[in-house]
Amino acid sequence: MPSTSQHSNFNNPTQFVEGWYWALPSSKLKVGRVKAVTLLGRNLAIYRGVSGQVVAVDAYCSHMGAHLAEGKVEGDGIRCFFHNWKYDDRGICVDVPSQGKPLPVCIKTWQTAEKYGMIWVWVGEEKPSSLPFVPELEQVDCDYLLGTRFVKNCHPNVLLINAIDAHHFNTVHNLPLEIVFDSQDLNNAITFSNTTRGGDDSWLIRLIRPLYRNEVTYSMCYWYGSTGTVTLGPDFLHFYIIFALRMIEGGKTEGQTILVTPKRPGCIGWGVNRGLLWLTQQVGNYFAKGDTQVFQTIQFDLKTPTKADRSILQFIQHVNHQKVLTWGTWQAFDSPEESDSPLETLCDRHSSTSLML
Ligand code: FES
Ligand SMILES: [Fe+2]
Repeated sequence: MPSTSQHSNFNNPTQFVEGWYWALPSSKLKVGRVKAVTLLGRNLAIYRGVSGQVVAVDAYCSHMGAHLAEGKVEGDGIRCFFHNWKYDDRGICVDVPSQGKPLPVCIKTWQTAEKYGMIWVWVGEEKPSSLPFVPELEQVDCDYLLGTRFVKNCHPNVLLINAIDAHHFNTVHNLPLEIVFDSQDLNNAITFSNTTRGGDDSWLIRLIRPLYRNEVTYSMCYWYGSTGTVTLGPDFLHFYIIFALRMIEGGKTEGQTILVTPKRPGCIGWGVNRGLLWLTQQVGNYFAKGDTQVFQTIQFDLKTPTKADRSILQFIQHVNHQKVLTWGTWQAFDSPEESDSPLETLCDRHSSTSLML
């Protein structure tokens, strides 16, 4: 079988799948505040206007390149610290104090959304696709808790396959369960669901079997090759863990776990959920603990895939079929041209130096 080290989207440090990426926790961005965020090699200023709306703009002012996170939020716009030019929430220049009127320039803005306590940025030119969500909770109002934030010495794609590496559950995590996944490709997402009821020779499986009507619930849903949602637990209580990952310099990973549970009514419901989210965190920690060290030293290259690695190969294939963008520039891979979105065309038309003088 072929090695997976050949050139491909998967595990590639210079490109990434177009999609939604986590930027920072919602709670870290109060109304009227701006933060500098580097996302997939591109510098952004992300601020929350008076309306509460989050705006993500390219970091550098179109006058002289000052970082806009040094500036201040005014209404739903941002004013550059250096010479006080102001841009509205579409990135259009609306005030140049020295001229007494705005100049026809703009800065690029990126679509944002808030979900599961996180601010997400759509990195791509096309109309955004769906935000990552836990399949069972698509229409459900949820409580959440942000878990650990971490950096790993390997690519997000590689880190994510840990959750569908069926064989390592036995060797590393000592689970006496043979997991066999069924996969379903959903364009931007792919799901892997366990189809087995476990082994009869294990007392643990026999003990927990009454808690499952059918197969043992364990499923993964991967979004944009970078965010994975885990669903596991007995039929009467499912735990949900999101691994929100993004690539950082050198093809490494910065990640954040998010623990999720459906909202329950009243004060008692609120209290129960605090307990459940804490419990979910312990479940996540158990699985993270066993193989943390492997991801500091691995040089991933699936040279000799076996039958047990089938799901991993399916995930690699899924990632290789996604639309990819280039690290830093966010341009479509193999496409040297800037896109021609109406806003950019406006910018390009008016960006000659002569207009500024
Ligand atoms: S650099 Fe921003 S206004 Fe001059
Ligand atoms: Fe693991």
